[in-house]
Amino acid sequence: MSKRIEAIDLNVYYGNFLAVEGVNINIEPRSVTAFIGPSGCGKTTFLRTINRMHEVLPGARAEGRLLLDGEDVYATGVDPVTVRTQVGMVFQRPNPFPTMSIRDNILAGHKLNGARMSRSEADGIVEKSLRGANLWNEVKDRLDKPGSGLSGGQQQRLCIARSIAVEPDVILMDEPCSALDPISTLAIEDLINELKNEFTVVIVTHNMQQAARVADKTAFFNIAGTGKPGKLIEYDETSVIFNNPANKQTEDYVSGRFG
Ligand SMILES: Nc1ncnc2c1ncn2[C@@H]1O[C@H](COP(=O)(O)OP(=O)(O)OP(=O)(O)O)[C@@H](O)[C@H]1O
Ligand SMILES: [Mg+2]
Repeated sequence: MSKRIEAIDLNVYYGNFLAVEGVNINIEPRSVTAFIGPSGCGKTTFLRTINRMHEVLPGARAEGRLLLDGEDVYATGVDPVTVRTQVGMVFQRPNPFPTMSIRDNILAGHKLNGARMSRSEADGIVEKSLRGANLWNEVKDRLDKPGSGLSGGQQQRLCIARSIAVEPDVILMDEPCSALDPISTLAIEDLINELKNEFTVVIVTHNMQQAARVADKTAFFNIAGTGKPGKLIEYDETSVIFNNPANKQTEDYVSGRFG
């Protein structure tokens, strides 16, 4: 079930370093949101607070509130492992478990959660997830072969299939196409467009055309200088961000006059 994501006055630290300051954002369920902005402005850092992955680094923490359908993922008693099941993540480089078969890659999340299931239930999950990631036809005859034997674009779709297998509410993608060729990139973009029927999708991208193609809304982050915190500067419909932004910094960035 797709969920709304709301950040309220969110500050994100690495030790004493305030990397991202004062984020307020409200992301609709069943939508695609792109995070754009220059390197180091905190896109990855903020993204990783949404599924409590940020805090796995020593000294890393977040302050403020991060709500999924109104429930604060940072409230006392919330299990970060549960949050990470609800909020899946896809990384820049496809990272299937290399020695595991395609099938076992898809089932890895369920096994980690200790789920017991029959062979036919497992087959059902594998097929549904691979179909959902537009990969089924390409791999249905080699499910027992290692995931690492697929092309880069296929591996990335396998990673997306793995993340949707546990039926999350939100899928976070950090530059999911940056290691892919243009054809595989378009395949992932088509897929993102379908994923929003079921999930809330957030994608970090440096590719403006990609943001314009896939995102309903776009969030522009910026940083005032080295050592300064990144901030969310403007968040609006993608067409507004690219064609008629309210903020001068956004305009300079999207028109390439940055820096
Ligand atoms: N593990 C870390 N420890 C300390 N500081 C970090 C760590 N990771 C990132 N930072 C710092 O936090 C700030 C934001 O980094 P982040 O990786 O979120 O930026 P980004 O917008 O994702 O950049 P890029 O577009 O290059 O991926 C930067 O100043 C970065 O140096
Ligand atoms: Mg990043």
